[in-house]
Amino acid sequence: MGINLGDEFPNFKAETSQGDIQFHDWIGDSWTILFSHPADYTPVCTTELGAVIKLVPEFQKRNVKLIALSCDSVEDHLGWSKDIQSYQKCGGEFPYPIIADKERKLAVQLGMLDPVEKDKAGLPLTCRAYFIIGPDKKLKLSALYPATTGRNFDEILRVIDSLQLTATKKVATPANWKQGGECMVVPSVTPEEAAKLFPKHRVQDVPSGKSYLRFTPQP
Ligand code: BEZ
Repeated sequence: MGINLGDEFPNFKAETSQGDIQFHDWIGDSWTILFSHPADYTPVCTTELGAVIKLVPEFQKRNVKLIALSCDSVEDHLGWSKDIQSYQKCGGEFPYPIIADKERKLAVQLGMLDPVEKDKAGLPLTCRAYFIIGPDKKLKLSALYPATTGRNFDEILRVIDSLQLTATKKVATPANWKQGGECMVVPSVTPEEAAKLFPKHRVQDVPSGKSYLRFTPQP
């Protein structure tokens, strides 16, 4: 079973490396990224969780909380955290919790199991999924990567910027957009409304003669 964009994200209870949580209470008024990885003490996962540690200040600036998940125990998470911090050359408290989904309940509920990757006992592992959840607890974006492809967390920051901008402004972000770049006026905005909301917008001519390519400076 999966979860669709716009659905309320399940309000699960979980054991984590920072204690037990009730997910919606833990989210509070923040945006949240829940990201899974196949297993603790594995190489790509170590680079991924390390990369996320480095980006914590960027996520904090955007009011985004982070929470990881794998099917290993809290004990494993705590032991592996030290390796990640050593690899990343940083000390202190590990800056985000890791859910211990030992029984794979969440992995099944959220459709995160990878049919290819198995643990030593032959049980399926989680893929590299991520879910971006809004302060309204609804799913805004999700992605699934196989175990063999590590994620680009700068891209995840970029999509957070787009999601937060487009949540309040009637724009969409074009291919390869970055914070501060030109945006597109969304199709539902009439020409009259566009003139009021985005006085600096321009309409690009196209052979069809249709006026749908409307660019505006980022509002
Ligand atoms: C890794 O994190 O390196 C990994 C985990 C499972 C399968 C392949 C790679």
